[in-house]
Amino acid sequence: MKALLLAGGRGTRMRPLTHTCNKHSIPIANKPLIQYPFEMLVKAGINDIAIIVNETREEIEKIFGNGSKWDVNVTYIFQDHPGGLAHALALSEEFMAGSKFIMVLGDNILERGLEKYVEKFDNSSLNGLILGVKVPIEKHERFGMATIKKKTNDLIRYVEKPGVVDKSDLYDPKNSYAVPGFYFFDKNIFQCFKGKDKIKPSARGELEIASPYNWLIEHGYKVKLEIVKGWYKDPGNPEDTLVTNQIIMDSFIEFDVKGEVDAESKLSGKVKIEKGATITNSILRGPLVIGKDCVIKDSYIGPYTAIYDNSKIINCEIENSIIWGNVYMHDVKTRIDSSLIGWDAEIREKEEMPRASKLFIGDNSLVEL
Ligand code: G1P
Repeated sequence: MKALLLAGGRGTRMRPLTHTCNKHSIPIANKPLIQYPFEMLVKAGINDIAIIVNETREEIEKIFGNGSKWDVNVTYIFQDHPGGLAHALALSEEFMAGSKFIMVLGDNILERGLEKYVEKFDNSSLNGLILGVKVPIEKHERFGMATIKKKTNDLIRYVEKPGVVDKSDLYDPKNSYAVPGFYFFDKNIFQCFKGKDKIKPSARGELEIASPYNWLIEHGYKVKLEIVKGWYKDPGNPEDTLVTNQIIMDSFIEFDVKGEVDAESKLSGKVKIEKGATITNSILRGPLVIGKDCVIKDSYIGPYTAIYDNSKIINCEIENSIIWGNVYMHDVKTRIDSSLIGWDAEIREKEEMPRASKLFIGDNSLVEL
């Protein structure tokens, strides 16, 4: 099987951070978000992966290169406009060359990986497979929802964000599952982009991922749904990103100190400190991650904090936050909590009069004083 990994999109709910970076490269527990689904694919034995990129392609190419670090082949496919998930799918026909494949959204993570589903689909005669997660009814409008036949789990209808994107009455909330971003297809799917009855853009002007699945069912092909066990995350906004950071740290971070810690510092819990980092006279309570060459001095770093490479934290208190690389924070008297701080930012206390807050922040920022 081959795979298609999506790294396009605008990331509007993650502004201002996504004004200058692709949302898929936001570091979660100090690893780019998209690396989690990528490594899930590698672990499931897939070694031919195409990544859909947009104008931020360099950022994504810097992470994966040609894939040799993971012993897989990586190919990049350029999407020149955000035409929807099914538009990205259409671009992959040549790459797939008749193979069965899985399409994965670059910001979706499954606790228990993909092995089971990849094996199941590969050994089946199904034309399509989707995964399903039970979510409270008030959250249905945020997802693609799949209505299935009880007992057989055959897909009856896939409705994209019911009532918001798709206002049809073909959706039965009682027998519906939210569909995470892991979509299995065989070669027949590419017929849905051709001929008189090809799929059409929705009212919001996108080729929705629901349409190829509904096309398959309408043309007599077989699609089933597998219910997901374990947690599933797709951080789309700052709050979800912090929750994902917490869950990843709980699940995957182990005590591992490669940097230097002086005798005055106190470490507890799962603390990961990368090479070249120095910790001086500080309290570190895990789970947390400190990146390469960071300097932490006279500070408290609390649970669920991820500080990326080359950052300097002096005389500050931070908890439950994601700090990008090259950040400089010093002498801040209030504790920084539940925050996302982008590349090269500086935060400091203003010493001289007048003691007003002086802000120099970009578009779409949120500051809670
Ligand atoms: C997309 C899909 C939706 C799916 C969701 C999973 O929505 O359109 O069908 O359920 O991903 O993450 P988005 O989250 O991009 O709005």
